[in-house]
Amino acid sequence: MKKIFAANWKLFKSPTETRNFFKSFKEVSAKATGDLVFFPSAISLEAASETVKGSNIAFGAQNCYVQVQGAFTGENSAQIVKELGGQYILIGHSERRQLFGETDALIADKVALTQSLGLIPMLCIGETLQEREATHTFRVLETQLLLGLAKADKAKPIVIAYEPVWAIGTGKVATPEQVAETHTDVHNILTKMGFTAPILYGGSVKPDNAGTLIKQPHVSGFLVGGASLEVDSFIKIASV
Ligand code: PGA
Repeated sequence: MKKIFAANWKLFKSPTETRNFFKSFKEVSAKATGDLVFFPSAISLEAASETVKGSNIAFGAQNCYVQVQGAFTGENSAQIVKELGGQYILIGHSERRQLFGETDALIADKVALTQSLGLIPMLCIGETLQEREATHTFRVLETQLLLGLAKADKAKPIVIAYEPVWAIGTGKVATPEQVAETHTDVHNILTKMGFTAPILYGGSVKPDNAGTLIKQPHVSGFLVGGASLEVDSFIKIASV
């Protein structure tokens, strides 16, 4: 399966910073050993769209609403992302689930809408530390996949990002053994459900751990937060 290296910029980088990043990044992007996907903040999407035009760099939004237009103050439209040339929507990131109360049912609608527009949903799943310690990881991931993909079209592309919540932004990366075991579980759950999808790992991925993690079974790439904000560190990760 082709590798994917995705960058989640969260609430960082203005339009100017976005343009400057891509001007430098385009000079090194040919080193990447897989597809490159960036998720800038919504206000910087147009700047991203202008600067990556004609390159091997794809982009998308970090979230979208379940309707493409209407009286939904403050929301983002996947249709507008598509018009800007975006190809992906990140859905169900743990920060959306935890800070903004997103439920699996809402996430399922976002996945369905994204696919119906011809965009690729990148669905994030992951367990909390408490859930891992209680040995509920498998059950949590299975539930998130069953509910989150309840309305998904198996014939259309979808990407899964496994991100243990306790590893996001903490510097505490999952061990290669944990990644191998969990990605195999996720792969098996997806297969049983009839889905074929690349499974990315996310959570404190850095240039010094990416080389080992990419070798683990069913790891098709990474979703990177902090280390994607600098050209050097992200291209190092994307060229493993
Ligand atoms: P991190 O974030 O790489 O900074 O841990 C990953 C993510 O939130 O997608």
